[in-house]
Formats: sequence, structure tokens, C-alpha cells
Amino acid sequence: FPNKNLIVVSNREPYIHKKIGSSIKIEKPAGGLTSAMDDVLKITGGTWVAWGSGSGDKDVVDNKNRIPVPPENPSYKLKRVWLSPSEVENYYHGYSNQVLWPLCHITPERVYYRKQFWADYKKVNGYFAKAILEEADENSVVWIHDYHLCLLPEILRKENPKLTIAHFWHIPWPNWTVFRISPQAKEIIKGLLGNDLIGFQIPFFVKNFMDCVTQSIEDAEVDHKQGIITYQGHITRLRAFPISIDFDKFNAIAASRKTDIAIRKIKKYFGITTEAIGIGVDRLEYTKALIKRLQAIDLFFEKYEKFRQKFIFIQIAVPTRMREPYLSYKRAVEELVAKINKKYSIGTWKPIIYIDTKIEQKELAAYYKMADFAIISSIYDGMNLVAKEYVASKTDEKGVLILSEFTGASEELEDSILVNPYDIEQFAESIKIALKMPDKEKMARMSILRRQVRENNIHKWVVSIMKEIAAIAAIKNEKC
Ligand code: UDP
Ligand code: G6P
Repeated sequence: FPNKNLIVVSNREPYIHKKIGSSIKIEKPAGGLTSAMDDVLKITGGTWVAWGSGSGDKDVVDNKNRIPVPPENPSYKLKRVWLSPSEVENYYHGYSNQVLWPLCHITPERVYYRKQFWADYKKVNGYFAKAILEEADENSVVWIHDYHLCLLPEILRKENPKLTIAHFWHIPWPNWTVFRISPQAKEIIKGLLGNDLIGFQIPFFVKNFMDCVTQSIEDAEVDHKQGIITYQGHITRLRAFPISIDFDKFNAIAASRKTDIAIRKIKKYFGITTEAIGIGVDRLEYTKALIKRLQAIDLFFEKYEKFRQKFIFIQIAVPTRMREPYLSYKRAVEELVAKINKKYSIGTWKPIIYIDTKIEQKELAAYYKMADFAIISSIYDGMNLVAKEYVASKTDEKGVLILSEFTGASEELEDSILVNPYDIEQFAESIKIALKMPDKEKMARMSILRRQVRENNIHKWVVSIMKEIAAIAAIKNEKC
């Protein structure tokens, strides 16, 4: 479904141009939104509007702030929105990361709010609206992503009621008791009701959103059964669309000879000779509960001495949003890794290899493939694509997925070992279960997991959303 009228919008851009001396280096950020949507736009084409965050971003765009991407084989346009350093602090590090992110992940004690955060949040949503309107015609479909741009739908609808506007919410949506903590809870919800369609990861988040509307906006009519909200004569439809990955891409990379060579290189580089390997791949993010994961590993080695020297855990932790509370969290994780390594090291063996740089997905497939198990320990997570990427990369099926029951992914990936990351004893036990699981059981579980991800892949996800959008666009056209 190539769609030249498709305008995708997010805060984070899929390609970042960085100036290094006199040359420009292109980086892809870590994060589920950009990973997933880049795979989508490579097929659909269209325009992606996002914050130009790289030091070299301004050097490569045309006079409409656009650049064709992906660099190796351009198939869509990336249009950048420019923000001043103080807008980045207030709108991004402030309101988005210190109010909406912790609220949606039910960690209200981490909320930090200042008046200027909201002022700039409003201003920046306006900048995005302007950039979109420069690109849009009346047949355009505007597809917004995530919590940075909640006011945008309402602004756009007022400016151009003919636009079809959809929003995908990649993270959880909490209940009203938590969401009302935001001093602007109502404005945020009203902004989102400018959408024709809002997609969430799982039905529970749809329900929470409808409850929030019922509690906060008296004159909104909420049809809980149909998932339809009517507010000031405008209809917003709500539905769950669990996001996924390009299964075939990971499967093919993992099956390639290059990946087997990469695995040998990685093992040689780190001197890995243990019988078993565990893997964790995350942004260095408190919601991923890296501390709880490390505590479980610590307890595991304490309880089961015979496993020392027999297995090694590789943690890839990509620094992210480098402001408080992330800076303190990073220090705490690094200190705990050092403590565990000191406590259990024997000869050249140490229990944890800690990698704090971003790894390209092609190489990630090698880490996934060589791991006998993967741990995802999020205290709350909209979906968690790493879980699905691990499954798609385990071509020999001899792998175990240890997965937090608080991820959206756990609703689909039931043949993993589901854990409550707060229950450290159970968590430590799950590592033992994974290490002792016979190949036959591993393969039986993994083949079911692989079938699930293969069938419910990113293409199916985008088709189901696009169908819904097309139906809504048709209704709007009829009315016009
Ligand atoms: N990722 C990556 N390199 C890394 C670490 C992560 O490319 O070194 C990618 C990973 O492949 C995945 C995404 O970042 O596609 C993380 O998405 P997920 O949904 O698991 O979590 P999020 O970061 O969006 O909260
Ligand atoms: C999550 C959010 C995305 C965000 C990503 C990386 O996946 O849902 O909106 O882009 O984390 O975070 P960052 O703040 O670096 O964009």
C-alpha cells in the first residue's frame, strides 16, 4: 500500500546526522518506535516529520528541511523540526520524559513538573503542526506517534478538518488515579480527542483511556463497548493494535553465514568459553528494571554455586535521555554490575559482560542467536520489541525467553517463562529453569513463539491500522 500522502510524525527521528570534524556520520537511534516505523516507511513511502536532534542535521536538508532516507536506498522523506536548547530541556527532557513517561509507566514518584515544561510542550506541538501543514494536502493521512505530541491532533483538526488523523500510543496508558497527577491531564486528553483513531498496544490500555475520558471530560460521550468517543461533535475511535517486528528480516540475518562469523568474533573478543550465555538488550531505562534483573542474577549465583563459571550474562545497556533520573540510574546499574563481578569472579571468568554502546540490529541478531536465554524484566512496558527480536533470531529454536508479565508482549508470548520482576526469588529461579530446560522443551516452546511472531508481524500490524484509517477516511470524505 504505497501511500505518498502518508505523513508520519514523532519526536524522535529515525536517522540522526552527527558532525564529526568535517564529516557527517549517520546514526540510527535505539528505541522501539523508530525501529518499527522505519521498517514500515521503507515500504509505504511518504514523509516522516521529526525533531532534528543531530549536530549535522541542518547541514544535509533541503530548503524545506527535508532529506531522502534511508541513506543507502532512499524510499521516503524525513522532514526535520528545529528546537532550541531550552525547548529540548522543557518539552522533551521536561514534560515528555519527567511527567508523561513516568505517569504512563506508573512510577509517579519520579514525576517532576515545572510550569515552563508545559509552556514549551504547547509551543513545540505548534511547531510540529506548522511543519505538517507545509506538507499536507486534503487527502493526507497524518499518523502521529507517542506522548510527545498529545496536543497536535486537536491543533491539526482545527486548522484542517479534512485531514485524517491517527495516533499510535507505544507506551502503556494508566488508570485515572495515576493519570490525573498530571496538572494538565484534561488538556492532554482533549488534545488526543482531536484524532480520528487512537491505537494502543493492548485492550487494557484502551479501557484505561476510556475510563480517563469518562472521569475527566463531562461532555464526552463514551461508548465503552464499541470503543468510540464523541466529543464536541467529533468521533474518535479506539482500538488495540499490538505492534511487532519484521520477523523475516531478523530471521534472515540470524540465519546468514555473516551472523555465525560475527558470533565467533564476539566470543573471541570477550573470551567467552562458558557452556551457556544469557542476554539483555535495553535502553538504560529505569522502566526496564535493570537493577531488579541484576539482583536476580546476584541471588542466582549466591544460591546455585555450581553454575559459577558455567554461564555468563551479557547486558547491552544503551545510555538514553542523559538527564536525571537517568544519570543516577546509570551510576547505580554500573556500580551493581561491578559489585556482582567482584563478588563472583574466578580466574578470567566474570559473571557479567556489560556493553554500554548502541549495537546495530545486524550485529544484535548475533547476540540474540548465541544466547541460550534472554531476559526482559520491565516493571511496565507498552510492548517490548526486544522480546520479539530475540524469538525471531533463534533460528535453531534452542533458546528460552524470560519475560516480565508486565509487558504488552507477555499477552502474546505465553510460551516464554513469565516472571514478576518484583519477585526476585522467582526471578532467580527462572534463570535456573532456563539453564536446565531440556532442548526438546526449549524447541517446543520456541517454535510456538516463533510462529506467533512470524504470523503477527509488523506488516500485519500496519495493514490492520491502515485498513481502519482508510475506512475512517472514506467516511470523512462522504461527509465532506
Ligand atoms: N536497539 C538497537 N540497538 C541496541 C539496543 C536496542 O537497535 O543496542 C533497538 C532494538 O533492536 C529494539 C529497540 O531498540 O528494536 C528497543 O525497542 P523496545 O520496544 O524493546 O524498547 P523501547 O526502547 O522502545 O522502550
Ligand atoms: C520508547 C518511546 C519512543 C522513544 C524511545 C526512545 O520507545 O515509546 O517514543 O523514541 O523510547 O526514547 P528517546 O527519548 O530516546 O526518543
